Amino acid sequence: MSNKNKLIPLKISGVGYCVPETVITNDDLTKLYDTSDEWIYTRTGIRERRFVSGEENAIDLGYKAALNAIKKANVKPEELDLIIAASSAPPNLYPSIACRIQEKLGAGKIPAFDITAACSGLIYTLEMARAYIGAGLYKKILLVATDNNSRLCDWTDRGVSILFGDGAGAMVVEEAEDGVDDILAINIKADGSIGEYLTLPLTGQNCPLVEPCEEKPVHIKMNGKEVYKFAVRIIPEYIDKCLEAANMKAEEVDYLIPHQANQRIIEAIQQRLGYSDNKVISNIKYYGNTSAASVPIALAEGVEKGKIKLPSTAILCGFGAGMTWGVAIVRLREGIC
Ligand code: ACO
Repeated sequence: MSNKNKLIPLKISGVGYCVPETVITNDDLTKLYDTSDEWIYTRTGIRERRFVSGEENAIDLGYKAALNAIKKANVKPEELDLIIAASSAPPNLYPSIACRIQEKLGAGKIPAFDITAACSGLIYTLEMARAYIGAGLYKKILLVATDNNSRLCDWTDRGVSILFGDGAGAMVVEEAEDGVDDILAINIKADGSIGEYLTLPLTGQNCPLVEPCEEKPVHIKMNGKEVYKFAVRIIPEYIDKCLEAANMKAEEVDYLIPHQANQRIIEAIQQRLGYSDNKVISNIKYYGNTSAASVPIALAEGVEKGKIKLPSTAILCGFGAGMTWGVAIVRLREGIC
């Protein structure tokens, strides 16, 4: 965990999100394989998800989410100092999503790059932004978390493809001129030794002079049971660590905004915290698991729909491929969304 004493304080000044229009319900999925709305809903809490269509991709979703976030932050694109995008399902490995969004926004030739921390992406980028702002290197940073999972699922694998959706969330963070730090505690971690729980191999094809070419499809592979056990063990443990670092009790934080991977995982974390339903933000029913985008979508949509009142405080938490995980306790100011 970073030492916050020497850091310049960070303000979360705007959040935004974007989901594609096309809705695919559990009933729709029964046309692809042997499944049912009842099986999917009872095990995951998902009823429907949104998918990109046509030329639309994670860059377009991320760009629209970014526009919403910078508008709320009252920041002009040319005032940004840095763009970091988190994605585990980008349309291209390069050019990066962040570079494409820099160009679309007309943000000038500021540094822009992507990171891969799967569903912990937003919390990873928040910690990175905190280091940059805290050290006085940059003043205004755009974070974009966007994923296009639908094009990376194996649409014959009913154990995995039922879970995912597409979407994007964005956050503008900047130096807090009032000296109030919106990050009360943050902790990101990874354990590469269990990376095989969730993989997306970019196998490609070797030179045909070396070995015969064979079709190697690019698909998400997951050991659902192990991911489930990992999440319900690790996230409560790190929420406790962050509460301790922030010198807060669970009941003093207003909301839990968790990664939307499975409603049963969300409820397990809720129970550990002893939170009532109105303190827990869940929209998995409508969007499924949008990977890195799920926490910022839940945050921005929660404010938009009045489920999250401002000003308030919230626990953000994510876990995903790597395996990575992260927890942040943040202050949510009036007007961020
Ligand atoms: N419809 C009907 N039956 C199905 C389906 C389906 N969509 N999928 C699997 N089944 C069947 C299996 O074939 C199996 O049948 P069998 O017993 O006859 O062999 C049975 O249901 C049980 O299958 P499991 O895979 O053991 O099901 P499980 O109870 O583990 O639930 C699930 C699967 C929902 C994926 C669960 O493991 C889970 O949610 N894990 C967490 C996943 C997660 O959080 N992923 C996010 C990762 S991080 C990130 O966001 C990238």
